[in-house]
Amino acid sequence: MTELTQSQTWNELVAHTEALPHMRALFESDPQRFDKMSTTACDLFLDYSKNRASEETLSLLFKLAEECKLESKIKAMFDGDVINTTEKRAVLHTALRATPGQKILLDGVDIVQEVQQAQAQMASFVSSITSGDWKGYTGKPITDIVSIGIGGSFLGPKIVSQALRPYWNKALNCHFVGNVDGTSITEKLKPLDAETTLFIMSSKSFGTQETLTNTLSAKDWFIQQGGTQSDIAQHFVAVTSNVAKATEFGIDANNIFPMWDWVGGRYSLWSAIGLPIALMIGMDNFRELLNGAHQMDQHFANTPLSENMPVIMGLFSLLYGNFHNAQSHVVLTYDHYLRGLPAYFQQLDMESNGKSVTLDGTQVDFSTGPVIWGGEGTNGQHAYHQLLHQGTALIPADFIMPLKSHNPLGEHHKQLASNCFGQTQALMQGRSYEESLTELAGSTLSENDKRTIAKHKVMQGNKPSNTILMDKLTPATLGSLIALYEHRTFVQGAIWDINSFDQWGVELGKNLGNDVLERLSATADATELDSSSNGLINMFRQQTI
Ligand code: F6P
Repeated sequence: MTELTQSQTWNELVAHTEALPHMRALFESDPQRFDKMSTTACDLFLDYSKNRASEETLSLLFKLAEECKLESKIKAMFDGDVINTTEKRAVLHTALRATPGQKILLDGVDIVQEVQQAQAQMASFVSSITSGDWKGYTGKPITDIVSIGIGGSFLGPKIVSQALRPYWNKALNCHFVGNVDGTSITEKLKPLDAETTLFIMSSKSFGTQETLTNTLSAKDWFIQQGGTQSDIAQHFVAVTSNVAKATEFGIDANNIFPMWDWVGGRYSLWSAIGLPIALMIGMDNFRELLNGAHQMDQHFANTPLSENMPVIMGLFSLLYGNFHNAQSHVVLTYDHYLRGLPAYFQQLDMESNGKSVTLDGTQVDFSTGPVIWGGEGTNGQHAYHQLLHQGTALIPADFIMPLKSHNPLGEHHKQLASNCFGQTQALMQGRSYEESLTELAGSTLSENDKRTIAKHKVMQGNKPSNTILMDKLTPATLGSLIALYEHRTFVQGAIWDINSFDQWGVELGKNLGNDVLERLSATADATELDSSSNGLINMFRQQTI
């Protein structure tokens, strides 16, 4: 058994959670519950009152966090200690949003200065593109950005650009290619004009098969459309920590933006990997995004655990996974611009906390990261919310909504809000058998049918949710929101004592994919593989010979 599950606090939590009353009763017994269990940080408001928790639950959770040395682990991350122990790396995405003048030394080098230099390079590039000074090979200004990358080098820039659409430069459009399926890049390039298209190749390692293949296809397309080899410099730039490989690939050394090994892929949107975002919303707004995240960093680093928003959210997620057997967590956004956020949080959390051993290699004897999923709230209400309300699985939910819309239109936003709040209410209170029966009282059904149908209408309630509100979706509030989830993920990993910053499972997929790729072009039977893999490889070969 791990120390964690043997600890007294852990076992007190087991007993305590079993005895906790229904949330309905908790609300009835304390009219101040909302005031007591809500907090504000960095222009984000969090209502955590609809959680299965009393004051005692919270104090046990904070005690557990203290015993797991959460505060010193937070400090170790901000200080640049090598907390990614398997890759022997510091984890310093927080340095990417540090303020100028702040000093963070890594191996004697002030990395904040390096970050500032990279931002200056980004700023001058953004200005030359948006002013039209940067010209395509026929002398026309750039109108379309195609960002090629995958994983963290894809999802962050894509989702944040999508979320900040109201801030877009109207003269530009952006497109994201991640998937190595040729259909993806083919469809994206179809409407574009090579003369006015700029490609950003984003790859920290400059070794990811999908990204290299898509970039080569983009180059071929560019040449087919009339560009020449010498025009490539005006149309291809790269963001990478592997400058040698990028220049070898043909990217002009002046057009390479830096990345560092102390930034994990899924935490990289704040670096030059965010270049597509900066181009679309402008460098000032990009800095606002960074500043919003920085504010959340300050809050996380300096606020006592009991008032610390990422800590509170992380502890609740842990509570459900470890003490209520929840296997998944749903993120529901009530804002069309935030429709991609669940996928972003999915990558962030599942790539970070999908782990089975503690830092010293001990097999865990508790659940780690849950399945994160979700989508646009109102649409889900007409589909999978059924399972949230009446399914057998407990699925804690986060509801996220700006109070003001960027597109005020009649009653739309009011209706959106009513759906959001109504769902959290229904999940919490449920509907008893007696209430269902009362609802059916006036119907023409037989008494027997009423009793049967009433059973089908029962909802246990007691389904937990957090509600996160912000005044309006801005670059700053979005920065704070994403940083909130980054730190929430950190909190859980720190308590479980796992490494949230490597991704060996994903790396395995990369290696196996390369091995199979070679076999697909070979002729020899792959009899040393299992019969299924060999059979599938043979089927593919037969179709493509
Ligand atoms: O192997 C997984 C992963 O490294 C992700 O963490 C990363 O974001 C993605 O692949 C892309 O990697 P790169 O930026 O090096 O191309």
